[in-house]
Amino acid sequence: MKKTNISKKTFYITTPIYYVNDVPHIGHAYTTVAADVIARYKRLSGYDVLFSTGTDEHGQKIARSAEKANLTPQELADQVVIKFKDLWPLLNIRYDDFIRTTEVRHVEVVKGLLNKLYDKGDIYKGEYEGWYCVPCETFWTETQLTDKTCPNCGRKIEKIKEESYFFKMSKYQDQLLSYIENHPKCIQPEVRKNEIISFIKSGLKDQSITRTKKSLRWGIDLPFDNNHVIYVWYDALINYLTVAGYNIDEEKFKKYWPADINLVGKDILRFHTVIWFTMLMAAGIEPPRMVFAHGWWTIEGEKMSKSKGNVVDPYEMVDEFGADVFRYFLMREVSFGQDGNFSKNLLIQRINYDLANDLGNLVSRTIAMINQFFSKKVPQPVEQKEKHDIELKELALNTIKEYNIHMNNLSLNTALETIWQFIRRTNKYIDQTEPWILGREKTKQERLSTILYNLAESLRLITILIYPFMPVKAEEIWRQLGLESDLDKIRLEEEAHWGHLKPGTLVKPGRVIFPRIDIKKKVIKKMEENEIEIISYDEFKKIDLRVGKVVVAEPISGTDKLLKLKIDLGKEIRTIVAGIRKHYSAEEILEKKIIIVYNLQPTKLRGIESQGMLLAAVDNQNVVLLTVDKDITEGSKVQ
Ligand code: MSP
Repeated sequence: MKKTNISKKTFYITTPIYYVNDVPHIGHAYTTVAADVIARYKRLSGYDVLFSTGTDEHGQKIARSAEKANLTPQELADQVVIKFKDLWPLLNIRYDDFIRTTEVRHVEVVKGLLNKLYDKGDIYKGEYEGWYCVPCETFWTETQLTDKTCPNCGRKIEKIKEESYFFKMSKYQDQLLSYIENHPKCIQPEVRKNEIISFIKSGLKDQSITRTKKSLRWGIDLPFDNNHVIYVWYDALINYLTVAGYNIDEEKFKKYWPADINLVGKDILRFHTVIWFTMLMAAGIEPPRMVFAHGWWTIEGEKMSKSKGNVVDPYEMVDEFGADVFRYFLMREVSFGQDGNFSKNLLIQRINYDLANDLGNLVSRTIAMINQFFSKKVPQPVEQKEKHDIELKELALNTIKEYNIHMNNLSLNTALETIWQFIRRTNKYIDQTEPWILGREKTKQERLSTILYNLAESLRLITILIYPFMPVKAEEIWRQLGLESDLDKIRLEEEAHWGHLKPGTLVKPGRVIFPRIDIKKKVIKKMEENEIEIISYDEFKKIDLRVGKVVVAEPISGTDKLLKLKIDLGKEIRTIVAGIRKHYSAEEILEKKIIIVYNLQPTKLRGIESQGMLLAAVDNQNVVLLTVDKDITEGSKVQ
């Protein structure tokens, strides 16, 4: 089937639909931001775009999480879906449709499609005996396992033996292979495609696509056997058809199908090619033009996991750094398709160098000079004969060309790199042409006009190009340039040409677009928020800490809290009264090398002069002495 009704070019892009057993994290944000960048770029290129995202709400994983939370699965889904729906606008994501698999429109499409495959004879009843990973919602056969853990996530798997309906996936093996061969772009990147091809060549088995209601109730009813619910992946993949209007709105479906990109993470590529493509082939529907698998983020070099407590919360990122700079980092830091490493330090470096230094400075210098030398009016340039002018203009045009190539290849980080080369070149142009010096000389006004026009025009082009990545920041720069059109509505074809900026446009100097992040200040802010009193380095230096060895320890009569200790400090022995007896007996503390505050004013406790204080770590239940890691002489300074 070919897309019809081509009054306008159409482009349909999807994100995976996210499980509602958990709140959004950086992985969800990454896919959705990338899809948004591509969708915005395509709108900018004149396409009629359909961009969808949503939530995957059925299956065992959701059922179990709901049970744990003492909620029905639907209640859990209704609560968690809000976390996704609220996040996307905060991340400046502009989708066209948000689909939930529990919606009636979807349930109907799923049932219709399964009926179709059943009528065709591609679904049959049998018995499934094998293994299942609940976190991945994946069936595994004995031969795929090396031990009793999931080959994908490494977690425990469960044995299943029950009646099940199967889809005749094996029947489509050859058709699938030749389809992939004839559509070389349908699975990307190349390395991932090759993995999928070898998986298919190793032999496709028929796919179990239902669970009995005895083992799982939370799913869409199988339309031709009420004792079964549909396997969550078989239901979820169909969301892409539902959104496009399959069996709902034929016009819409013709217009947008096949999907241009199903964007997914590398971990779910197999579902999106093998199960998805064969299901579509069986139904006589053309597969998506491309399934693109992006890589995974590690966090400070480690796998992200709840148990490690290193999950990156996109809400916090937006709060701390702002949506667009977070988007920029995600898109700039790794090449699309590869794995990447997230660290706050890297993020701050990107903000300070790429955004504040390079782009931010270009904006503020350009606007400030037009303000100062031409009372806010973009000046009229004269003919460009100077070498630097010609070079700048040439690079601008080249940048636009290359940018388009990279964006269309989904080399999103290279597209950004290309823009940044132009930004750096434009900053260099300021240094080379020294407009602030020309500004002082009356005779140099023509030259100054040309230079400042060139700067403003370069900045206008840069702003258009960065718009898909940082839509709100781009809008701010656009306004400071005095431009009134909606960036949302402009078209590259009309606007991405040199010389479109009208002389006489009134710039509007505004606030700093990308404030630098001072790491030192951020730490202080955090302490102040937690009401932690800050001391200066000099104050800290005044405290003299020493290692001492407990050589005598005895209880003090009349109290069960205190011990009297003699501490050997090498050149002297000191007495310390310590309120530690509830946690350490005299025998336990004897011989320990501990840390004491050496220059504390002596004080009398129970009639005994205490000549210092020992250090201990304290939480709700424990008091634990600070000792030394290796042996060291008594009296050593702690620095
Ligand atoms: N519900 C399925 C998708 C069904 S689509 C028909 C699902 N949901 S998910 O919520 O578990 O994950 C969604 C996406 O998040 C996947 O594309 C996955 O690759 C991505 N990520 C999860 N952790 C990630 C990282 N640490 N880094 C990058 N993306 C990762 O799977």
